[in-house]
Amino acid sequence: LRRSGESPALAAEIPDARKPGGTRASIESDRAIVLSPVQIPGRPVILAVRSVAETRAAVRRDVSSQTAALALIFLALIAALWTWLEVALNRRIRRLVDAAARFAVDDLEARARLGGNDELALAGRAFDAMADSVAQTRMRLLESEERVRLLLDSTAEGLCGLDLSGRITFCNPAALRLLHVAHPGQLLGSAFYDLLRLPGSEQTLDKAWVDLALQTRARVEQELSLPCPDGTVLAVHHSGGPVLLQGVLVGRVVTLTDLTGKKRAEEELRKSQAQLRMADRLATVGTLSAGVAHEINNPLAYTLANLGYVAERLRELPGTPDCAEVVTAVEEATEGAERVRRIVKDMKTLSRVDDETIGAVDVERALDASVNMALHELRHKATVMKDYAGVGFARANEGRLVQVFLNLLVNAAQAIATTQPDHNEVRIATCLDAEGRVAVEISDTGAGIPEDVLPRIFDPFFTTKPLGVGTGLGLSICHSLITAVGGHIEVASKVGVGTRFLIILPSVAQEPAGAAVRPAA
Ligand SMILES: Nc1ncnc2c1ncn2[C@@H]1O[C@H](COP(=O)(O)OP(=O)(O)OP(=O)(O)O)[C@@H](O)[C@H]1O
Ligand SMILES: [Mg+2]
Repeated sequence: LRRSGESPALAAEIPDARKPGGTRASIESDRAIVLSPVQIPGRPVILAVRSVAETRAAVRRDVSSQTAALALIFLALIAALWTWLEVALNRRIRRLVDAAARFAVDDLEARARLGGNDELALAGRAFDAMADSVAQTRMRLLESEERVRLLLDSTAEGLCGLDLSGRITFCNPAALRLLHVAHPGQLLGSAFYDLLRLPGSEQTLDKAWVDLALQTRARVEQELSLPCPDGTVLAVHHSGGPVLLQGVLVGRVVTLTDLTGKKRAEEELRKSQAQLRMADRLATVGTLSAGVAHEINNPLAYTLANLGYVAERLRELPGTPDCAEVVTAVEEATEGAERVRRIVKDMKTLSRVDDETIGAVDVERALDASVNMALHELRHKATVMKDYAGVGFARANEGRLVQVFLNLLVNAAQAIATTQPDHNEVRIATCLDAEGRVAVEISDTGAGIPEDVLPRIFDPFFTTKPLGVGTGLGLSICHSLITAVGGHIEVASKVGVGTRFLIILPSVAQEPAGAAVRPAA
């Protein structure tokens, strides 16, 4: 400073400036100079000389670098905030968009569920509310569709929708079954009326008929036939109605009902009515035979008495050859009349309609009476074997019991096709079972009963015999008569071997005094 002659005033102050805190400054000719002591321990104090311009520049430099740093920090903060905002916003928008996309492809559970109170959250909540409402409507729609589908699926009638040209646009499972088609695709688009015929005809339906059936606004009811792939023909009831959309005919809906069951029921009803008429005739015959038996009984009584008298008187006459012939003739006549008496007695037993008394019945005597009556049926078919154990009395009605045995014996005879009595056998056996009840077994070596028929033989009107031969009432009557007295009836059968009926009756230890059994004739 001294040498350069610069700031001579300041130069003079150098010694003072060396003292601690002795900073000095001067401004000369627009230059400012500052002297500041710099003390380094162990060293002489030196002076730092700095012009104010430099100092200012240094300060300016410091300030601008601080400003730059602040600006950088600010920018970094802005960038971080922006990034955060961007990420958060994007994520929420993506949630909303995702929910909308999932909902659009039938995910009815899809919701945005955005939190917050900003516009996006509001939009999200609005979307969720709309989705709730759409989902509810959709569920109701699905439920109602399901109900309709269930109805259509479970209806027994085949249901088809047709367009105006008669092509199938819809069909329910019953229609598929009826038309023998496995999948709706095989039916859709095909001409419905090509599948049907008029009853008894093999030709396709008349075009005029089909046109009318398609175009009329009235319902078309008609019995038609449906040819099946197996060659059979099904009778069906066709009912076709118009489908109107705001008054305009847009198609038809037709139902097809299988009439097989109805026809079978009608046939069975017809058969049952015929059988009822037959049963009625049989009842009349039974009543008549009771009257006839009664009428025969009186003349028979004096015929037998007179024959006895004649035989007795003849025995008193002197024996001549002529007389011997007459005696033989009278004996034969007596034997014949005796047979008539037995038959009449058995007939009366069977047709004793007025007597429904339950009492002690001699089972083996009732069996004998039944055999006598069935003999004309049995004689040519089989050898009748009796194996009685002396079972005594059972609790029953005699007439009804004879009726039961008679039906079983006639059934046995009818089950034997051949007329070779030596080769077939009808066996009648009695015994007491372990519980002391009377057991009667009537078995034959006839055709036997097939397994699928066996469960039905006790059904009223069930018969495998031609109309006029059997009414199908025999076994059902047997069943009800036997169960009515507390017994039961069982059957065992094998086709080609034979059939065995077992009847169990409550026994009566001994014939009670004044038992209900009346003399049969
Ligand atoms: N012993 C038998 N052997 C083979 N089949 C039998 C025998 N008994 C009964 N059945 C079968 O059971 C069916 C029913 O017998 P059920 O006695 O009830 O009627 P039905 O003999 O046909 O007629 P109905 O007795 O009224 O004249 C018979 O049609 C026959 O098919
Ligand atoms: Mg019978």
